[in-house]
Amino acid sequence: MTVLVLATGNPGKLREIQPYLEGLSWDLKLKPEEIEVDEVGITFAENAALKASQVAIATGNWAIADDSGLEVTALDNAPGIFSARYGTSDADRIERLLRELGDRPDREARFVCAIAVARPDGAIAMQTEGICPGEILLAPRGEGGFGYDPIFFVPEKGLTFAEMPPAMKQEVSHRGRAFQALLPQLKALES
Ligand code: IMP
Repeated sequence: MTVLVLATGNPGKLREIQPYLEGLSWDLKLKPEEIEVDEVGITFAENAALKASQVAIATGNWAIADDSGLEVTALDNAPGIFSARYGTSDADRIERLLRELGDRPDREARFVCAIAVARPDGAIAMQTEGICPGEILLAPRGEGGFGYDPIFFVPEKGLTFAEMPPAMKQEVSHRGRAFQALLPQLKALES
């Protein structure tokens, strides 16, 4: 089996990513903690590619990375690629977003996820993107998930990400959609 190093230090994401890759004949390993990756790109796709490439080169293995975040239309698509850096904790980030949006009626938002897979020499072999459209609620709802999940409402399901059972979030989320697009390509490489 070929080793595939997962370039994330975020345990919430790891829990969500692992199930997508189960059943594939890739030997999934976590990125060693000492490998730091720079997120200096200006798009999700650029950041995913940078992370996958750097981890592949540092470990000498195939690597997979995702970069994701929340875009809020009325805030000029903020926090966007700065979603993780928008505050010091999940509660802080949610509080800031709700404060900046105030009681504006336009609550349209979307989660975006870009995934990149790099070969051991750092060359990008595959890239996909997934989008989940939704709305920002006035107050948090639900206990599951991580990050901005309690304020992100998905009209298609009538629930916030934090209210969804994990399998439902896997089906409709930006990350789920990006992985659904990636899986056929990963499978094709196995043979
Ligand atoms: P990344 O680790 O650079 O991809 O940053 C992603 C950030 O966007 C996370 O730290 C979260 O704050 C947010 N985010 C990404 N995906 C999700 C999700 O599925 N639910 C809630 N927040 C998310």
